[in-house]
Amino acid sequence: MPIKKIAVLVSGRGSNLQAIMDNIENGRINGKIEVVISSSRDAYALERGEKHGIEGIYIGKDRFPNIDKRNNRLIEVLGEKGIDLIVLAGYMNILNEKIVKLYRNRIINIHPSLIPSFCGKGFYGERVHKAVLDYGVKLTGATVHFVDEGTDTGPIILQKAVEVDFGDTVQTLSKKVLKVEHELLPLAVQMFCQDRLEVQGRKVIIVDGD
Ligand code: GAR
Repeated sequence: MPIKKIAVLVSGRGSNLQAIMDNIENGRINGKIEVVISSSRDAYALERGEKHGIEGIYIGKDRFPNIDKRNNRLIEVLGEKGIDLIVLAGYMNILNEKIVKLYRNRIINIHPSLIPSFCGKGFYGERVHKAVLDYGVKLTGATVHFVDEGTDTGPIILQKAVEVDFGDTVQTLSKKVLKVEHELLPLAVQMFCQDRLEVQGRKVIIVDGD
């Protein structure tokens, strides 16, 4: 099976990018990250990629104030690199419909809650954990899903729950959830690269590997 070419889109710290790079280097993922694209010029994720010899490109508001031009540049880079899979790893922008259509069922996002709870517009990063704590739910978790035209609405690939303890803060909870994210995202990428993810309507079927 040919190696899948991956683009990882980031905005900040890049710990999920790190988890994917580690799993490529230890041979679990049959893929290659061709490019790290950041919506933020000073994202630490760009440095992480560089340390592993991966090209980093900034495509953000400073360089492309017009959203359509920004998305067109994104499409151009993805096309030039022959990307098979786009991974949104802490990417704090929303992709436009053109990209979603071009890469249907080939864009994976990680979200730090159990979708459909605490997701959608305005729910990102630590805001999600704050909302979870404010609401008082006893369980939260992480979700990996394919991206469709909505925000956090695409077919779910993997989910895992995390218990919310009484004394949890945004920091302790995000640490617990992040640990699960670092298991789920590389696993989903691994299965994609093995052609094991089949989308049937809203459902993702995980087929057996060889
Ligand atoms: C992660 O917790 C990820 O789930 C979240 O941002 C964080 C990025 O961390 N993504 C979203 O909230 C998207 N809606 P990282 O940069 O260390 O991977």
